[in-house]
Amino acid sequence: MSQINASIDIDKRMYLQDISASKAHAHMLCSVNIISAADAKAINSGLDTIINEIQSGNFKFSTELEDIHMNVEARLKELIGEPAGRLHTARSRNDQVATDFRLWVRDCVDDQASMLAQLISVLLERSKTETKTLLPGFTHLQPAQPLSLGHHLHAYASMFMRDLDRLADARKRINQNPLGAAALAGTPYPIDRQHTTSALDFEKPTENSLDSVSDRDFALEYMSAASICAVHLSRLAEELVIWTGPQFGFATLSDSFSTGSSIMPQKRNPDAAELLRAQVGKIAGSFQSLLMVMKGLPLAYSKDMQEDKAVTFTAADTLSLGLQAMAGMLEDIAWNREAMRSACDRGHLTATDLADWLVRELGMPFREAHYVTGRLVRLADEKGTQVSELGLNELQSVEKRITHAIFDVLTPEASMASRKSFGGTAPERVSEAIDRTRNQLLLTMKAFGSQT
Ligand code: ARG
Repeated sequence: MSQINASIDIDKRMYLQDISASKAHAHMLCSVNIISAADAKAINSGLDTIINEIQSGNFKFSTELEDIHMNVEARLKELIGEPAGRLHTARSRNDQVATDFRLWVRDCVDDQASMLAQLISVLLERSKTETKTLLPGFTHLQPAQPLSLGHHLHAYASMFMRDLDRLADARKRINQNPLGAAALAGTPYPIDRQHTTSALDFEKPTENSLDSVSDRDFALEYMSAASICAVHLSRLAEELVIWTGPQFGFATLSDSFSTGSSIMPQKRNPDAAELLRAQVGKIAGSFQSLLMVMKGLPLAYSKDMQEDKAVTFTAADTLSLGLQAMAGMLEDIAWNREAMRSACDRGHLTATDLADWLVRELGMPFREAHYVTGRLVRLADEKGTQVSELGLNELQSVEKRITHAIFDVLTPEASMASRKSFGGTAPERVSEAIDRTRNQLLLTMKAFGSQT
């Protein structure tokens, strides 16, 4: 029983949150005269001793005592005697654990917001210098149209900005105080929930005692945001795997972020990127796991909910490492600009520009221009060349009204520069977008607290 029942090995990570919440509770009990000032003082200093014991490795955690809440309380009893028994007045482990866990998830969100901000900053910095660096853009992983590397990197900055925004949004709902809900129905003692709410920096007390002790949406919401963020990390990781392979050769990871092979001396493996690509499974799987724990649970607290922490901690730890590894990789990755540029000379990347020229200059309907261009691409393929390399005679063999002026639009440089629509890949648009994202980042970060 004690093996299946105990959660101490996992929830001891919340010792600081548990002790902060107990201190706030004791202080509140004293302020409304439920316990004496002397008892509150003894409780407070006993709890300080326990923090020291835990931090110095001198605290004996006991499985028999099930969880962090009982471990702390039992030790408090040893340290201060009778007043320790008064701490649990007007409180239950049900609202205690809900409070501790909310505080933990809130701290985690604040930490990860900083990590995301760091990753976004690296992406913005590295994109700002590459607004004119050409690389082929793909759809279906087939060459599509020329892009700048800056535009490509800014796309990921945009994804991570939404992830940050999701954390900011989730934080509002995480940051509500369930303490005082007691077991499920509230308490007959004249407690002051506003007091503990302010003491613990919560935004407001939760409205319904039953919901307070049985709600784990806050963890689900965090893990949902974490899962989406991990998906973004995995996509960028995959690009790095592709780009750093010699077939693409667009980028080279620094030594500190690549590994060798024990048998093939030539290898530079992108292990960190591969792990990021894989670890999304652990994060999204943890999210699924808690969703299934919560499914069909009747009100209010059920022991099922003790399973919430292990998976949330796994998701959080995995994401933290991933965010930092990605920022580290991007900080010192080297771009092989010539390889990116010469890849733009394959795959008829400016075929769309050719069709657009026919529309603009000859007044051709786009569908017809698409057809004509398709024939020119076939002609180029037959000759083993690019559509942009065909001579005027060859172009005119399919559409005789084409003039020499068409060559102005057939280079990747011209193609990229022409895409000036808002959000497009033209260097000045990308540069403006980067600046806006940088400003938005500063604003969004205001939603988070400073780390504990
Ligand atoms: N260890 C429990 C958990 O993490 C604490 C709450 C237990 N409450 C109870 N009534 N048994 O969920």
